[in-house]
Amino acid sequence: MQQISARLKAEGKTIGLVPTMGFLHAGHLSLVEKSKKKSDVTVVSIFINPTQFAINEDLNKYPRDIERDKKFLRKLNVDYVFIPEASEIYQENYQTYVEVEKITKILEGEFRPTHFKGVTSIVSILFNSVMPNYAFFGQKDAQQAAVIKQMVKDLKYNVSIFISPIVREADGLAMSSRNVYLSAAERHDALVLSRSLKLAENLVLSGERNTGIIISKMNDMINSVKNSKLDYIKVIDSDNFTLTDRLIKNKNYYVLIACRIGSTRLIDNTLLKIR
Ligand code: PAJ
Repeated sequence: MQQISARLKAEGKTIGLVPTMGFLHAGHLSLVEKSKKKSDVTVVSIFINPTQFAINEDLNKYPRDIERDKKFLRKLNVDYVFIPEASEIYQENYQTYVEVEKITKILEGEFRPTHFKGVTSIVSILFNSVMPNYAFFGQKDAQQAAVIKQMVKDLKYNVSIFISPIVREADGLAMSSRNVYLSAAERHDALVLSRSLKLAENLVLSGERNTGIIISKMNDMINSVKNSKLDYIKVIDSDNFTLTDRLIKNKNYYVLIACRIGSTRLIDNTLLKIR
């Protein structure tokens, strides 16, 4: 991969990287489209990164279908698909990790304490392998995007990061490879995540600025679904990813939610622009 990228760069071409764990859906493909517009050459990586899963998590059952993924990518005329083996990435005696300190401790980091260390390490390895000019991430994982931006800034990676909006199913469910875990009934219950975010948007439109009230109303809506178990609802300042209790004019905020539906853990968020 490094040799290919070095050759492309010597030819003066720009490289866009879309890192994924595969089992691609329209959310991933929107990132690919964006990369294709921006870059001369697009590389999509598919790697189910073991170090970002804790031992009790779904690494072993994470959905995979490389042939299907390749078909999607071929249809979009993607230039390269990079599919390394875990044994190539994490060779024997591997012992180096990249860790972003503060913003990895809240929200997802509170419930998945080792997760972001795995993410930043693999994204570093992917950056060093593909040597992209641009890398494309989704707002679906808003905290992940913020963590990666922080890493790029701190470690002076020569990569521009682009964040794309969340792609949803027609009924509002945020697309996710993990949605296949949901039964038909759970799939229906899972709509409460996007509905509660809509509620937050509507409360803000009608003038509510107290995040405690917004969260409490979202909480009630989610708790009315019997099969749900909330991990968190938080409102954070989108500039610096810190918690906030009052929404201020001319600023942007994320409302982020993590919730289990049955045994499937889902995340979703929305961006509130206060005007
Ligand atoms: P994965 O979950 O496969 O997601 C790959 C990229 O697709 C991420 O940037 C994610 O935010 C984006 N994405 C997922 N669902 C989306 C949706 N509904 N709309 C828009 N974008 C969406 O995130 C990872 O993989 C991994 O942590 C990775 C960055 C590849 C490191 O292993």
